[in-house]
Amino acid sequence: MALKIEAISKNIAEIEDKCIAIAFFEDNLKLNMELEELDRKTGDGIKNLIKNKDFKAEANEVKTFYADTKGVKYVALLGLGKEKEFNLNKLMDSASVLSKKIRGMDIRSFSIYFDSFRNKNFDFEAYLEKITQAAAFSLYQFTKYKTKDLDKIKTVDKVNIIVNKDDANKAKKAVDDALVYSEAVIKTRDLVNTPPNVAIPEYVSAYAKETARKNGLKFTVLDEKQLEKLGMECYMAVARASVNKPRMFILEYKGAGDEKPIVLIGKGVTYDTGGVNTKPANYMANMKDDKAGACSVIHVLEACARLKLKVNLVGIGAMAENSISGSAYKPDDVLKSYSGITVEVIHSDAEGRMVLADALAYSLKFKPKAIIDLATLTGAAIIALGYNASPIMGNDQKLIDKMKKASDKSLEKVWEFPLWEEYEELIKSDIADIKHLGSDIDAGSIIGGIFLKKFVNDTPWVHIDIGGAVWAKQEKSYKTKGATGFGVRLLIDFLRGL
Ligand code: BES
Ligand code: ZN
Ligand code: ZN
Repeated sequence: MALKIEAISKNIAEIEDKCIAIAFFEDNLKLNMELEELDRKTGDGIKNLIKNKDFKAEANEVKTFYADTKGVKYVALLGLGKEKEFNLNKLMDSASVLSKKIRGMDIRSFSIYFDSFRNKNFDFEAYLEKITQAAAFSLYQFTKYKTKDLDKIKTVDKVNIIVNKDDANKAKKAVDDALVYSEAVIKTRDLVNTPPNVAIPEYVSAYAKETARKNGLKFTVLDEKQLEKLGMECYMAVARASVNKPRMFILEYKGAGDEKPIVLIGKGVTYDTGGVNTKPANYMANMKDDKAGACSVIHVLEACARLKLKVNLVGIGAMAENSISGSAYKPDDVLKSYSGITVEVIHSDAEGRMVLADALAYSLKFKPKAIIDLATLTGAAIIALGYNASPIMGNDQKLIDKMKKASDKSLEKVWEFPLWEEYEELIKSDIADIKHLGSDIDAGSIIGGIFLKKFVNDTPWVHIDIGGAVWAKQEKSYKTKGATGFGVRLLIDFLRGL
């Protein structure tokens, strides 16, 4: 059963659930009247834990006890740390620790006493949104390919967020909105986690088609013959070594009449072997995540349709597999891009920018007012910023600033990199118009951006290099191991903020 999250208005002492979660700030361990009433039923369990300093409400501290009242079996106390040091990131961290702890106790349903979590320095809706998302993200599990001991996998089916009667309507709306984000992120994780023998370009394209059908989006797809005929030599050079043929799918959402659309383009390399410049084994592992950009784009469009945003969107997934065979492209090749610019190949593992170059140039036919691309483009993004943030760069400061604002709201971190003209030197080619890479590894993420910039002309454009943020090697807070779905919340908040 899939996890359900719901806002419910009720008096706390009337709750009937397997577990109730109550949060405290370290510097305020008092019980309000409702809690006093509840605690009386638990035999003063809460007060005793506090009095004996068994629960100090330090950040991410969780203490549970068996209450054995008629309504509630377990009480879970959660620490939110010092009120002064608190922020929405910490709220998500602690709500995640709590959710996983309760799941670990094999409790399938729990209630969150919202008032006890609340810190009035933060917006009511944002607060509910982050709690909802933290529960949904942290309880995520990818079990589709498990066949054994399924009954031993612990799952939570239901989270109730208990709010005051006065707040009921706005709380329900906030939770429902947050669930649209959560579902988009979770479906993105599922698709990115899908193994590369299954999630080939055709599969992801068919998935996009099904999403379009369910949400009333327009769907078109270009297959290898059409891509070839259109003259997308850079894209096809990457795609042609694989028996799994490329697909470029296009989703269109109309929420704003005749307005010019915003184009979202996702890199969709379903597996990146590196090509003839083959990756060493330890760098190749998890390269199914190289399709994350395209997977995110599908679900951002779905979310925008569900939220009925007043924007026009074109979502493009440029799907291909970077494989190895006799027909593979190779260093020294010169290719004519869709835009007409000739490109000298330096390294077959820099395939994402080749695919994107043609997809970006093609997207100009929609006369976009802005283009945003989401791509696991460089390992250098990890060297620069680690796994928790993504470099952004572009040709339009206003657009970049809007993306930064969306980053603050969504809590998905981005950091601006410059595309100074001095960098252009590095992609000058002796034989073609440009090369797709500098001759050494310096400023790797920026060089990726400098190259892509050539293909958007004057259209306002932002490139988000999600190479580091889309995959979690370790479980941390609401990031579960594997695909993170990074970029989905960022882009929805960006589009909502326009
Ligand atoms: N898909 C990779 C980038 C990547 C690496 C994403 C690690 C996530 C984790 C990209 O296609 C790639 O291989 N880039 C090369 C570029 C190099 C050849 C200039 C890289 O970053 O090593
Ligand atoms: Zn590569
Ligand atoms: Zn790649």
